[in-house]
Amino acid sequence: MQSGRAHGKVILVGEHAVVHGVPAIAVGIDRGCVASARPLPRGPSQLSIAAWNAGIAEDDASDLARGYRALLDASRGAIGSGAFAVEVSVDLPAGAGLGCSAAVAISIARALDPGANVSEIEARAMAWERVFHGNPSGIDAAVCARGGALSYRRPGPGVSMALDGVLHLAIGHSGMAASTKAMVASVARQMERRPEFVGEVFASIADISAAATRAIQASDREELGKLLDANQRLLAALGLSTPDLERMCELARGSGALGAKLTGSGGGGCAVALAPSAHVARGIVARWKHAGYTGFATVAGQEKPVVPRALRASEARSGDALEVRAGARAGVD
Ligand code: MEV
Repeated sequence: MQSGRAHGKVILVGEHAVVHGVPAIAVGIDRGCVASARPLPRGPSQLSIAAWNAGIAEDDASDLARGYRALLDASRGAIGSGAFAVEVSVDLPAGAGLGCSAAVAISIARALDPGANVSEIEARAMAWERVFHGNPSGIDAAVCARGGALSYRRPGPGVSMALDGVLHLAIGHSGMAASTKAMVASVARQMERRPEFVGEVFASIADISAAATRAIQASDREELGKLLDANQRLLAALGLSTPDLERMCELARGSGALGAKLTGSGGGGCAVALAPSAHVARGIVARWKHAGYTGFATVAGQEKPVVPRALRASEARSGDALEVRAGARAGVD
């Protein structure tokens, strides 16, 4: 039995613009995926993901099977023509902007070929990502594979950034799942309709990204927080925010956040708030929960290992699990 792990991710600044060549900054979090792979005497290869209630064979007609097939095909040079049974334990909500899809792919790629280097793993995961996202920038796969803090410009591989200490983050779920593919397509449509406006927004996000790099290098958390707020205004101008995400950002700022924004595709999914301390991060999560959202506090920027889902059962009992409200659209992130 071989196993592989991957981090979930949070984009601090630059989502969507990164699809169009603007640099973005993302951090790995200590929640993610753990996959195990065992060889089968004969095909087809199998994939089971309990958290998604999914069990498929590679020759099925579903999108999940197409993604799995693409990943297997991209790995064939290293793993040969054999068949595998892969099981993935997922500790991230799907459609939440936390890189669930990329983390699943990275963990599978690693379980299939634990000896591969990080660039090979990313390239194989991207074959899966293209099935679900159409036009992924690659930032999710890059940071889910590497963890830490990453400045990423398409086509990668990105530059790891040293952090002076950790970033204290509160991550909260708006209760609605979102489709990255649909939100990326909505930005592409706006680019066709209003190229000048979207070009200006992307230029401003590029400035924010550059300033955020400087703020991280200078350990200036307050400046970084202001940049998150500024990025949120621009994402809202592109129609990517929702009333729940706006409310969560307001609640976070009112509870001591240095800045807050949606993270990932928007249109639902998660908000991230930068806090000056772990205590304030926990207070933000408590405020969100009081308002009916779910969330958790975490630190980012450390190379913390991903903890298997089973070990998180006690957290889930204490209400720290991220949930999507009943009736929300589920889907691959
Ligand atoms: C999704 O986590 C981030 C987006 O920028 C899409 C991408 O970069 O592929 C919205």
